[in-house]
Amino acid sequence: MHDTIVILDFGSQTTQLIARRVREAQVYCELFPWDAPAERVSALHPRGFILSGGPASVYEPGAPSLPPYVLQSGQPVLGICYGMQLLAHTLGGRVTAAVRREYGPTPVEVLHPHPLLMPLQNRPQVWMSHGDQVEMLPPGFIALARSANSPIAAMGDPQRPIYGVQFHPEVVHTPAGADILRHFVREICGCAPTWTPATFIEEAITAIRAQVGDGRVLCALSGGVDSAVTATLVHRAIGDRLTCIFVNTGLMRRGEPEQVVRTFRDRMGMPLVAVDATEEFLSALEGVTDPEMKRRIVGERFIRVFEREARRLGRVDFLAQGTLYPDVIESAAPDRPGARRIKTHHNVGGLPEQMHLQLVEPLRYLFKDEVRAVGEILGLPPEIVWRQPFPGPGLAVRVLGAVTWERLETLRAADAVLLEELERAGLLRATQQAFAVLLPVRSVGVMGDGRTYEEVIALRVVTTEDFMTADWARLDPELLARIGNRIVNEVAGVNRVVYDITPKPPATIEWE
Ligand code: XMP
Repeated sequence: MHDTIVILDFGSQTTQLIARRVREAQVYCELFPWDAPAERVSALHPRGFILSGGPASVYEPGAPSLPPYVLQSGQPVLGICYGMQLLAHTLGGRVTAAVRREYGPTPVEVLHPHPLLMPLQNRPQVWMSHGDQVEMLPPGFIALARSANSPIAAMGDPQRPIYGVQFHPEVVHTPAGADILRHFVREICGCAPTWTPATFIEEAITAIRAQVGDGRVLCALSGGVDSAVTATLVHRAIGDRLTCIFVNTGLMRRGEPEQVVRTFRDRMGMPLVAVDATEEFLSALEGVTDPEMKRRIVGERFIRVFEREARRLGRVDFLAQGTLYPDVIESAAPDRPGARRIKTHHNVGGLPEQMHLQLVEPLRYLFKDEVRAVGEILGLPPEIVWRQPFPGPGLAVRVLGAVTWERLETLRAADAVLLEELERAGLLRATQQAFAVLLPVRSVGVMGDGRTYEEVIALRVVTTEDFMTADWARLDPELLARIGNRIVNEVAGVNRVVYDITPKPPATIEWE
């Protein structure tokens, strides 16, 4: 059992980042909605609490309140933004609307040399995003820091380990933030740094063996890091009682189907059934141009092919799935803002019920970066560990308009040029997602003496921390020029290349 921190979510967009920073300090934490049943939270015997930010105002009727168990526990508490205001409000201070909303990078001045805020002395810049502020401290509290607009930018009670910060230590725009959170969980809460990939692997293998007993497990390998790590863990735990199924939808990037077989069957020695269902997917998609329809068709077809192959294997008891913590958190709070899905994301959702299988989900408490760290220790090749996210419906949603084999091949060729050049420039990890999109538009060009009338490739390269928001990568113009030239010269059927300079929001990362 790890020393555990509980983070209560009051609706901020950045709550998950708090959890990631705590985990980076090698301390285990879990996230709960602020109104989660007290028993569920207490069952973890938290060593401390972090209260997130949120969009509400504490003084409004019906605003989220502080669950009584937090202060009753006597454990350390850190309130962030709304969390700080909630502590102030609950403990007898006063919160009001600030005269001026404070948003963006702001320097703060430390007023009191408390160890929690020491990192701010060299790196005083913090990220602010609030309209309300603590106007009057609760009895016994002192102001620990101030900014130009917030006379109380941080507060603490010298008698009890209760703290509040008006700024957001969890975001990268607060350079000292990770150290502040680390100090809180390690020194103030006294949590031991036991949360490491190596201990996780050991515990996961024990847990899989206990759950599966002498049963047989099936796993859908997609080539992505989540299913790869899941399969590897299960294989370590139960050996050949695991069978993996890889469905080649014909919608993958160049070289990927071969890579999956090479890695898992040839190199890792896993029992792997590889099915080429390209024809089946392409005929199901014939003439379909609506993105949501494409997603539905690919999702449904995938389940059908998978089921058919699974039936051939005889007795199977479990389905191993690479569900990650962010999916678990979201599904616990389906109608919270921020959890709303803008696109129906395809995964193997309906499978376990239809096939009467129990789920094995060894990654359900991990964030993506933790999955990669585990994958590295498990010895998976870097191309898989660092593989960029790839949508379940694959290139079907990157070939805009009708999906045909020829158009898929055009896109694959252009995409391969982009990825190759980014890799050569050492930028494939620095940009979180990079891909080409084939537009259903023709434009006029000139090549040699002739006029051309061909399709357009759009390049989408983004940097993002959580895929909820993203910015377009400021690639070197020379690099862009090289990519553009190569695509127009090497890829038949394309005579124009454009670079997408829209952030998310307002645009999404994918074009469909
Ligand atoms: P958007 O386009 O919504 O994408 O900004 C955010 C992230 O989700 C991925 N994405 C998908 N993943 N099935 C998936 O498994 C889908 O239908 C799907 N659509 C988008 C996208 O690649 C990005 O990483």
